[in-house]
Amino acid sequence: MPLQLIRSELLCSENFIAGRWQSAAAAAHYDVVDPASGTVFAHVPDSGPADARDAADAAAAAFGAWRARSARERAQLLKRWHALIQANADDLARLISSEQGKPLAEARGEVAYGASYVEWFAEEAVRAYGDMIPEPVRGKKLMVVKEPVGIVAAVTPWNFPLAMIARKIAPALAAGCTVVAKPAEDTPLTALALVRLAAEAGIPDGVINLVTASRAQTPAVVQAWMDDGRVRKVTFTGSTAVGKMLARGAADTLKKLSLELGGNAPFIVFEDADIDAAVDGLMAAKFRNGGQTCVSPNRVYVQRSVYDLFAARLTARVAALKVGPATDPEAQVGPMINARAIEKIVQHVGDALAHGGTVLTGGERLRLAGVAGTTFFAPTVIGDACPDMRLAHEETFGPVIALFPFDGEDEVVALANDTPYGLASYFYASDLARVWRVAERLDSGIVGINEGALAAEAAPFGGVKESGYGREGSRYGLDDYMHTKYLCMGGLR
Ligand code: SIN
Repeated sequence: MPLQLIRSELLCSENFIAGRWQSAAAAAHYDVVDPASGTVFAHVPDSGPADARDAADAAAAAFGAWRARSARERAQLLKRWHALIQANADDLARLISSEQGKPLAEARGEVAYGASYVEWFAEEAVRAYGDMIPEPVRGKKLMVVKEPVGIVAAVTPWNFPLAMIARKIAPALAAGCTVVAKPAEDTPLTALALVRLAAEAGIPDGVINLVTASRAQTPAVVQAWMDDGRVRKVTFTGSTAVGKMLARGAADTLKKLSLELGGNAPFIVFEDADIDAAVDGLMAAKFRNGGQTCVSPNRVYVQRSVYDLFAARLTARVAALKVGPATDPEAQVGPMINARAIEKIVQHVGDALAHGGTVLTGGERLRLAGVAGTTFFAPTVIGDACPDMRLAHEETFGPVIALFPFDGEDEVVALANDTPYGLASYFYASDLARVWRVAERLDSGIVGINEGALAAEAAPFGGVKESGYGREGSRYGLDDYMHTKYLCMGGLR
């Protein structure tokens, strides 16, 4: 069925550079596929380095005037953008579901989530305060001002096609930066629609420039920005492997970097936990976007004395989940994004079984009656998991929960931290002394304590270790797009 939008012009099929919609210089295109049906429903430019350079030229030309606007003016434009995102939420949600696959209700939630970052940074734009330092010697004034870093390159993932680009572009604009952006190859349409709304909001030409590119062309587009000394910051959400390449590439021109990379989140259930609350929290955290979320719990450690009870209650809940295409109003878990994604899940489950795991529910690919897509996977619980399994060490990025029994607190903290990643961790416990001990000992940028839903525009999102650096959202999120400049005024005696 063709995609029906209330405003058909929100289905955009060209790059947006310097306020103009334009094809790729090479006039190449690639297909956008609906993962639920496997059908091609749109085409977008397959851009190359020439398009990336055009985008950077436009961002450079717009930078001076944009940074010179008052913070209040930038805030007002961001607020107008926020209002337009909300006003067009139904169309944006349809675009998200069509290209990414998440159920429509969840896509609506993503629109609200992404919009909240735009509103938040509209409000933060007017609070980028500097500082006055008490003078160490008389006759001098020491001041600190915040300045925009310059052109920002934003490279965004497919799992939250709206929220991730919104939470990079909004703080960049609030800070006074201009942007060149490339959305994930699988999900370019939501980003293009978002940029159209930004233009409608009155955000000036050249302030946001967006090019789309296939998987094959993406390295060349990003490299053009890495090589461009005018691009002063790169903000990326995606795999740790790509994040490391960007960190190496940024060294030549010493760009500032924000890297929100892979995770391997532990979720710990202690014997003093409220078991039903822990099941609720795990369901919310794990099945958001079908498990295709960087903060999705990957390893679930359950204290042996409550293991059977927890496994039984969890398994009943997981077995009841409805899998289906986004168009099914009852669907709670949609298709995986593409063939590569489901292949990894199949391999992780196969490996877990080969290492002695037991399937408590699910465990296999699904073919749904009347649905052509081939990337549906049954929500799965694997019992008796052990550290030798791949899913103990690698992010599965799918609807698979592995349950690892444990005995003691020191043991489980060591297991939880035994990973190069450190984005999110979760634990459920009621003993307050334990709550503080464990919260302080977990090596991650985010800790959920008796809570599965962590993300919020007001909170700093980001990791430690190989999950990256930089923070998105919150008052800390604006700093990543600004320099701290020290002004020293003398001769005042
Ligand atoms: C992500 O998966 O990268 C972000 C998820 C979130 O914002 O909660």
